[in-house]
This record gives sequence, C-alpha cells and structure tokens, in this order.
Amino acid sequence: MTQHLLEIIYLIASVTFIVGIKFLGNPATARKGNLIAAFGMTIAIFGTIFLYEHNGAHLHNLPWIFGGLLVGTVLGFVAAKKVQMTAMPEMVSLFNGMGGACAMLISIIEFQHLNGTSLVGLEGKVFIILVGMIIGSVSFSGSMIAWGKLSGNVKDKSFGQQQFINIGLLLVILVLAYLTVMGNEANTQMFFFLVLVLSLLYGVLFVMPIGGADMPVVISLLNSFTGVAAACGGFLYGNKVMLVGGILVGSAGTLLTIVMCKAMNRSLLNVLIGNFGGGSTGAAATSASFAGSIKEVSASDAAILMRYAKKVIIVPGYGLAVAQAQHVVHDLELLLESEGVEVKYAIHPVAGRMPGHMNVLLAESNVSYDKLVEMEEINPEFNTTDVVLVVGANDVVNPAAKTDPNSPIFGMPILDVENAANVIVNKRSMKAGYAGIENELFFKPKTSMLFGDAKKALTELVSEIKALG
Ligand code: TAP
Repeated sequence: MTQHLLEIIYLIASVTFIVGIKFLGNPATARKGNLIAAFGMTIAIFGTIFLYEHNGAHLHNLPWIFGGLLVGTVLGFVAAKKVQMTAMPEMVSLFNGMGGACAMLISIIEFQHLNGTSLVGLEGKVFIILVGMIIGSVSFSGSMIAWGKLSGNVKDKSFGQQQFINIGLLLVILVLAYLTVMGNEANTQMFFFLVLVLSLLYGVLFVMPIGGADMPVVISLLNSFTGVAAACGGFLYGNKVMLVGGILVGSAGTLLTIVMCKAMNRSLLNVLIGNFGGGSTGAAATSASFAGSIKEVSASDAAILMRYAKKVIIVPGYGLAVAQAQHVVHDLELLLESEGVEVKYAIHPVAGRMPGHMNVLLAESNVSYDKLVEMEEINPEFNTTDVVLVVGANDVVNPAAKTDPNSPIFGMPILDVENAANVIVNKRSMKAGYAGIENELFFKPKTSMLFGDAKKALTELVSEIKALG
C-alpha cells in the first residue's frame, strides 16, 4: 500500500517538474514554476524518507538525513537570498557542482556495496554506477573550476597539446572503466578509484582552458551532465522521480547550451576549444580603425533628444547589470512615458552573461513584461524610432556581425539599432565587450556617446529631463 502511495507521489512530482519548466519559459510565470517544481521535489523527498521500503525495512539513519537536509536548506536559502544578480552564474555553477558530487558519492557508495561479491552477472549495474560516477565527478570538478573562474579566483590556463592530453585522458578513463566491469576481480576496486581520480582530473583539465567569459555555456553543459548523472542514480535505484528529474535536467541543459551557442553563432566545439572571450580587456577596441570619429553627447543634450522624441527604444546590455542601473532605467522609462514618449526595451537573447539576464534584471525593477520586446520582433521597429538608447551593451549591437566575415561574431544576429534616427550609447569608455572587438557603431555619424557609469549617467539624464519641465 505505502509503495503504491509512493509511486503516486513520484508521479505527481514528475508532473510538477514538467509543469514547472513550462512555467519557467515566461518571466510572468517563472516564479510560480519554480515553486511548483520545488513543491514536487519536497513531496518526493519526504515520500522517500517516510514511505520507501526495501525488503520490508524503511530508511534508517534519519538524524543524518535530516541533519543534511537542514544544513543544505539553511546554506542554500542564505546563499540564494544574498547573491547579487551578476553573481548568479557563479552560484548556479556551485550548486550544479554539488549535484555532480552527489551523483559521484552515490556511485562510490553503491560500488562499495558490491565489494567482495563477484561482478559476474552484475555488469549492467556496475556500468550504470561507473557512468554516474564519471559524469558526476567531471561535472563536480568542472563546475568548481567554472565557479573559481567566475569569481575571479582561477585564471584561464592551457598548455600546449592540451586537447590531445584531454582526449588521451578520456580514453584512459574509458579503458579503466571497462577493466572495472570486465577485468580481474582482485583489481576492480583499484581500477574503480583510478577512474574516480582521473575523472575528477579530467573535469579540471576540460574547463581550465575555456575562456572565463564562455563559462555560462560551459555551466549549462555541465548542468546537463549532472542531470544525466542523477538519471543514472534513478536507474540504479529504480527510482522514477530521480530518473525523470535527471532526464529533464539533462535535456533542458543540452537544449539551453544549443540555444546559447546558436544565439552567439558559435559551435559548441568552438566554445570548448576556441578560448574566445577569455579576459577581453578591450585592447583591440582602443585602436580604432574605422572611418568617422567619436561624437560625445552631454546628458542635457541627450535629455532634449529623448524628451522630444515620439519613440525611444532602450537596449540593455551587460553594463546595465554591472552598474545595477535597472531601477533608474525604469524611472527613465516612466518619466518619458509621462511626457507622451513611447518607450520599449529591445532584448537580445544573449545580452548580459546568462540566459534571460536582461529579463530578470528588468523584472527586478518592475518593468512591465509587455515592454520587453524580443530581437526578431523589435528589429523591424528601429527604422520608425527616433532615439535608441544603448545602455552598457556592445556586442549585441555590433554591425560587424553582419558586415565583417573576419569578425569572431560574424553571423550572430544583432539588434539593428543603426536603422533608428539617432543612437545614444552609454558606456564608461571605448573598451570592448565580451568578444573583445571594436564596434563601428560608435563611429557612425548618427551615434553619440554618453560616457559614464550607467547608473550615474542615467540618473543625470533623468534629472535633466525633469529640469526640462
Ligand atoms: P558586452 O558586449 O559584454 O558589452 C558590455 C559593455 O558594457 C562593455 O563594452 C562595457 O564598456 C560596458 N559596461 C561595463 N560596465 C559598465 C557600467 N558600469 N556602466 C556602463 N557601461 C558598462 O555586452 P552585451 O552587448 O550585453 O553582449 C553580451 C555578450 O556576452 C555577447 O557577446 C554574448 O555572446 C556574450 N555571452 C552572453 C551569454 C548570455 S547567455 N547572455 C553567455 C555567454 C556569453 P566599458 O567598459 O567601456 O564601460
């Protein structure tokens, strides 16, 4: 009877995961989606603790289980409350690493249960244990390096022939895994732990050379690894909710990785071995080689241009997040609207540094969702726009993506801001963005630069518009 109840709980939990993901697809319902899936996970956990039965026995070690739950809940809650929006990819990476570590530990423990028994006839089980352990440990150590890179504690590092060494290491892991399943019984423990150590090392070497700024894509990939590793755990225990949850994370992570690569017009292979965007310092951008010159605009002139415009489109980018200027940009929007100006935001799919970065940021300051217009939809609107205000965006408005076949971003879809009558670009200097390349837009006759930190510059802009009365 309790087993049937548990199966029903698992079924409900699996449905909540799917509904949760569906709701996460829209900023208006994302919070609800998260809560629905969290509810499903909670009933699955407590259902397992109190109802799971194996050979007539329930789970024991309850103080340890609840102790772990308590520590994890408190740490997770405090970390999630305190985290800055810009540090979100870091936290996702850390939490993802913990998931990988769990999958790795499950495999270690399950393999120890087989210690001393002949593995003949258990090859399938050992295979799943090994797959879970290899993927889980790669995900764990890789995520830790990604976390270190994003927090600035680990620098990009690669050495000659690294890709060959990585491939060689992977082959050694696979051979040792094969020997663990099929080899001499006396050596299985040794092979197993060698696989563990080398998988951890592989995770480090795999992520180490990848450019720090490519980390969001890598984290999404590692996230899908963790999902697959968790699914192995579900397979091992015949636990359907773990299987469904793992597969959902695995496939969602893979899809997100593909979507991000597509939006940047890069192949996954290029992200993994290209070292693109690693620590762009803007050196390239300081040596302008475009015709035309930079035109600066003062906050008061920009205010006049925007106050008397019919339609203004704001293009937010990474710099908006760095400056935490989301509230003042909303103030600017409301002010312009109160003066009869139509205002919209143009959202590029990879603006910022994580998927949905601009949506989340602007939702924080209560910008209405219907004001956020996706790239395909807003692009045809630029030629009927009087002023485009680019705030801390660079690559996503770089015309080289369309005009320069040698540019690393060539082919990436961009926001066609230059079709507007006037373009005002706010950034602090002429430094490059993520891709480390110059931007011809800044040298175009219709572009004016409003230099300064976004929060400061927009605050000034707001007061200048107010002063116009
Ligand atoms: P970027 O091209 O990175 O440009 C951001 C600009 O913001 C910089 O040029 C910087 O110039 C300016 N900035 C920085 N701090 C500022 C501040 N406090 N105030 C004002 N400006 C500031 O940003 P983007 O246009 O949003 O493009 C995103 C890039 O990241 C794309 O290349 C994309 O492929 C990549 N990427 C995105 C993702 C996701 S999922 N979103 C993941 C990985 C990579 P100054 O230093 O001169 O101020």
